[in-house]
Amino acid sequence: MTDAERTAVEFTFAGAPVRAWSGDTVAMALWAAGHLALRRSSRDGAARGVFCSMGVCYDCLVRVDGETLRACTTLVRAGMLVEPGGKP
Ligand code: FES
Repeated sequence: MTDAERTAVEFTFAGAPVRAWSGDTVAMALWAAGHLALRRSSRDGAARGVFCSMGVCYDCLVRVDGETLRACTTLVRAGMLVEPGGKP
């Protein structure tokens, strides 16, 4: 996908609108929008977010339209409902 082919996309994270570009991952779109904490640790409640950014650590888990996915390997889609994730 070239930059000229990218289109504006809007989705929701924890009830707040987020603007991104087609081809962005959910992780990078949320990061660019200032959402660094994507879930809470099930062990101690600490904020977790993007760590490896390549699908290995599972720190970026979010729920996308009800399905638990890694934000760093999931591309944005218009209208998707993203919520903070749970335990890995
Ligand atoms: S940031 Fe490590 S799996 Fe997504």
